[in-house]
Amino acid sequence: MYAINFTQGGKRQIEGALGDMSMRISIDFGGRQWRFEIPADEILSRMPRVSLDAPSQLTGVDIGSHSIKVVKLQPVDEGFELVNAELIMLHPETIIDGAMVDFDCVAGQLQKLLIALNGIAERTAISVSGHSTLIKRISLPRMTEAELRKAIKYEAEQYIPFDIKDVYVDVAILPPENPANAFSHGQMEICLVVAKKDVVDDYIRVVERAGGQCVVVDSTATALVNAFEHAYGFPKDENIVITNVGAGQMNIVIIKNGEILFTRDISMGADLVTEEIMKTLGLSWEDAEHYKTAKDEETNEPAIMREVRNLEDRCNHTLVTEIIRSLDFFCATTICSDFGKVYVCGGGASANFSTCLEARLRANKCPTAQIIPFNPFQNIRIDPQRPVSNLLDKMSARFAVAVGLALRRG
Ligand SMILES: Nc1ncnc2c1ncn2[C@@H]1O[C@H](COP(=O)(O)OP(=O)(O)OP(=O)(O)O)[C@@H](O)[C@H]1O
Ligand SMILES: [Mg+2]
Repeated sequence: MYAINFTQGGKRQIEGALGDMSMRISIDFGGRQWRFEIPADEILSRMPRVSLDAPSQLTGVDIGSHSIKVVKLQPVDEGFELVNAELIMLHPETIIDGAMVDFDCVAGQLQKLLIALNGIAERTAISVSGHSTLIKRISLPRMTEAELRKAIKYEAEQYIPFDIKDVYVDVAILPPENPANAFSHGQMEICLVVAKKDVVDDYIRVVERAGGQCVVVDSTATALVNAFEHAYGFPKDENIVITNVGAGQMNIVIIKNGEILFTRDISMGADLVTEEIMKTLGLSWEDAEHYKTAKDEETNEPAIMREVRNLEDRCNHTLVTEIIRSLDFFCATTICSDFGKVYVCGGGASANFSTCLEARLRANKCPTAQIIPFNPFQNIRIDPQRPVSNLLDKMSARFAVAVGLALRRG
């Protein structure tokens, strides 16, 4: 399982308390006094990165611009059982471009979900994505993890478009692609994860305001890969594409043998369809959403539905063009030329979207491309008596990120 955290329980408080201080130690030995001074940085890098509380299963909280999703799992036998999954809608102006415009509204809606989970002071894992984050594979001279953690702030600077003071940085050493060559070249591959502090801090604060406790902050791509691994396992030597189509953004992750080869967050999502319907048909956001998500037979207005479907096709074409552009970029910069399986999730991954994506991929050098709905609950035991299973019948694809987060312990 991937585990890249920006914060873990306890560690942030310790960091805050130490600040720029150092620890002074003096030892009397053989009549002489020895003095050492250890800088705070050094103390922190040697500190075990564990929560102060005993590790337990965290509640996955996916704060999207259209809805907040929460999932709680409990370990059973060799797998997991669903304790609960809940979703609550947000008004379109509440979160814009990943920034929390109406902080109180997000906190209030999240609090309702946490209460529904019986969660007073729920311990949670959240994720961040979009243009305030960056995930990159880079190559560095071989070093130990402790050395890497010390060096990374200086090494990372050249790879990131932000001021290093404004970001949280985390790293994971990746297994070498070719173990036979790894030593002789003296290099190692690492996954660098960077997120802007103000955005991460806002997400942590909103969880705290809602009455929860934020123990892990993950990247959305990592959460998707963890959910995928649990649902399907990693097929051998196959490039797998995971596409999460949200309201305001799409996350694309390419993995092979369980390793993340490529990720991209595109600031465009299924809201494009809603906005186009509002503009062209002069409808409110609520009405546009209603027509967009309704089945043709559910309304008595064939003329409007024809127009809505045309607009939807046009917007899906635009969204798919962006996805194909990313896949083309990946192929141009690696030896990959084809994709077999493309898993789709998120509310925007409707049947129409999938049909459009499959047709365009097949026409674009991937003749065997197959679009598969990503069901994150595939390998999770669900008690049919629980009322939540109705929600999951219709919306399971929207919970992929939340499931990936709920698989974390901390
Ligand atoms: N049945 C449906 N058909 C088409 N679109 C749908 C359907 N159900 C939901 N959507 C759309 O899916 C989007 C919401 O999906 P999701 O919950 O994955 O987004 P989000 O996580 O809140 O957003 P983001 O991750 O972009 O911040 C909305 O644009 C919504 O209109
Ligand atoms: Mg989302």
